[in-house]
Amino acid sequence: MRIGHISDLHILELDKPRPLKFLNKRLVGGLNLLLKRSNAHSSKVVERAIEHLDDHDVDHIVISGDLTNLALDSEFAAARTVVDGLRGGPDRVSIVPGNHDYYTPGAARNGRFERHFQPYLKSDLPRYQLDEGYPFCHLRDDVAIIGLNSGIATPWLFATGRVGPDELRAAERLLDDPEVQRRFKIVVVHHPLLPDEHHSIQFNRRLLNAAEVLEMVRRKDVDLVLHGHNHYFSVLQVPKLGSPGTTYICEAGSTSVAMGGDPMMSGKFNIYTVEDGHLRQVESHLFESHEAGFLPWKSEVFRRTIAED
Ligand SMILES: [Fe+2]
Ligand SMILES: [Fe+2]
Repeated sequence: MRIGHISDLHILELDKPRPLKFLNKRLVGGLNLLLKRSNAHSSKVVERAIEHLDDHDVDHIVISGDLTNLALDSEFAAARTVVDGLRGGPDRVSIVPGNHDYYTPGAARNGRFERHFQPYLKSDLPRYQLDEGYPFCHLRDDVAIIGLNSGIATPWLFATGRVGPDELRAAERLLDDPEVQRRFKIVVVHHPLLPDEHHSIQFNRRLLNAAEVLEMVRRKDVDLVLHGHNHYFSVLQVPKLGSPGTTYICEAGSTSVAMGGDPMMSGKFNIYTVEDGHLRQVESHLFESHEAGFLPWKSEVFRRTIAED
């Protein structure tokens, strides 16, 4: 099974934002975005990534949050159009929200992300799903994909997140379900659980209960955690707790960045190969130009272990 991972699309759609909507946090965030992001993130780059994912025969696609910037209805509608362009529709796509999709208390309170992406949040094991829509579970062949929500409305200049206690307990029960246990388990959550080689965990950008979520995924035999937020590629490995094996924690980077040729900045996506219940390969692809599209950048291969043989 091959799984594509795109993230942090930050689709900018400011055609008709009503001026009042920019009061409060949006005044700062909106102006900042207009200045910094108007040329950086492009839905055209995401469309090229989708073409490449189709060329590379991926079976399923994961999107790990921050589809919008200001959580405006107009941005969600534009992001939904892009996501609907993925081959196979909701059966083939799993999406969780990021902090930008919960940018204001109103967007969080009204469940704006969930309203716009409702068909994509349908769970194959709905008895574990809370009213807000999480955790959801997509069972596809020998893989179970569990979506968590770490989006919360935050004060100015904060991009923190939290997986709520009820949701975390529901996720534990879901991970104990025999339909999940017998599969390769992937958890998708927007915020990173650990620092990587380029990013420390910043106080104002962190997952507030990262230690608790990390302990849970290691204890519950999760094989792969996919996240976004740092806009950079990373592959981390931590030992599982209570059973042999490794929990891999991977980030794809922001897929929509229209700048080419700079591994730190350029648009990126990942492809994971899962075989016989194990992660075999992580491939990163980097945006080169609108003409060339994305090119393979780096690949990590994980060999069979003696225990598997
Ligand atoms: Fe982001
Ligand atoms: Fe984020």
